[in-house]
Amino acid sequence: MKNLLVTGGCGFIGANFIRYMLSMPEFHGRIINVDKLTYAGNPESLEGVEAVHGDRYQFIRADVCDQDAMAEVFHRYEVDGICHFAAESHVDRSIVGPEDFVETNVIGTFRLLELAREWKDRIVRFHHISTDEVYGSLDETGVFREDTPYDPSSPYSASKAGSDHLVRAYGRTYGLPVTISNCSNNYGPFQFPEKLIPLMILNAFNGDPLPVYGDGRNVRDWLYVEDHCRAIWIIMTRGRPGETYNVGGHGEMRNMDVVHAICDLVDELVPKPGGQTCRELITFVADRPGHDYRYAIDSGKIRRELGWTPSESFDSGLRKTIEWYRDNTDWIRRVQSGEYREWIKSHYRL
Ligand SMILES: NC(=O)c1ccc[n+]([C@@H]2O[C@H](COP(=O)([O-])OP(=O)(O)OC[C@H]3O[C@@H](n4cnc5c(N)ncnc54)[C@H](O)[C@@H]3O)[C@@H](O)[C@H]2O)c1
Repeated sequence: MKNLLVTGGCGFIGANFIRYMLSMPEFHGRIINVDKLTYAGNPESLEGVEAVHGDRYQFIRADVCDQDAMAEVFHRYEVDGICHFAAESHVDRSIVGPEDFVETNVIGTFRLLELAREWKDRIVRFHHISTDEVYGSLDETGVFREDTPYDPSSPYSASKAGSDHLVRAYGRTYGLPVTISNCSNNYGPFQFPEKLIPLMILNAFNGDPLPVYGDGRNVRDWLYVEDHCRAIWIIMTRGRPGETYNVGGHGEMRNMDVVHAICDLVDELVPKPGGQTCRELITFVADRPGHDYRYAIDSGKIRRELGWTPSESFDSGLRKTIEWYRDNTDWIRRVQSGEYREWIKSHYRL
């Protein structure tokens, strides 16, 4: 892949992926990052990348649903690989306003697939990033496998399920070299602080309440973002076209245990002057409607076939994450105060 189009590269996972790729000795190509810069897109997460990597990194502000803009990108940059992250990704927002989710996640994916079909002779790989939420909810037992039937609960997961079906269909119908990864909850540097782990970390730093949905017994499987980035690249280069790979961190935890782990690490790494402990800040709030009880991923296929395993345990990944948030107060301040939007406005005429 010489010209890899990364969509949604200013989001949490996309920004980590671009940094990972450009620092990897085996990758010699160029990255073209297309991002609409919604509230979740923050070019400051890629600060310094252009200075270090020069022409190997290009940023274009565009909407993946915009047929003409995306056609221009495929043509001008001679795109030969696609790694598609761009999405509306926050479940709570999809409950309040589902339309943007259908637009970006379904129509946006469709537009990219159509362009990839047009340039099929050149396209080496179309990789689609999806979620384990398409499989629905588990009770106390069982795990999601690649052949688990889809059963999405929220407008977010339903829109991701729709896009997965389209990607698979373009592989089967038009012979596009597609792959899909369905991953569990990611955490790590540069995550927007509305998601569970960064929200809890920042509230714990500030001595603010730590709001836990329902009784905190819901279970999620946590994946350190850099482990995920490595998995994506392995799938893109060694995964079989037409295949789906589940990616999980083997970090199954109840939400309550995640919050306790954060509290204890924040107490250790950023102790409060008065000796207050973070566990005292935990409060329970009304549960999210349609809140899936448990997700757990079987990532045996990617382990067996492609030799990927996560490098971080939940404890080591969480420690790195808390240290990153502790050491990057500028990034946090600008996200929390909305200053990053001002910067985007002045650069991109929003
Ligand atoms: N974060 C997780 O734990 C997780 C878990 C499973 C799957 N995923 C999937 O991984 C992908 C990335 O997730 P994330 O957490 O980095 O999301 P994010 O919300 O942090 O970032 C999404 C990015 O996409 C951009 N974007 C949104 N709409 C766009 C459009 N119409 N055109 C161009 N750009 C647009 C945003 O500006 C933002 O930069 C998503 O597809 C998501 O469904 C995420």
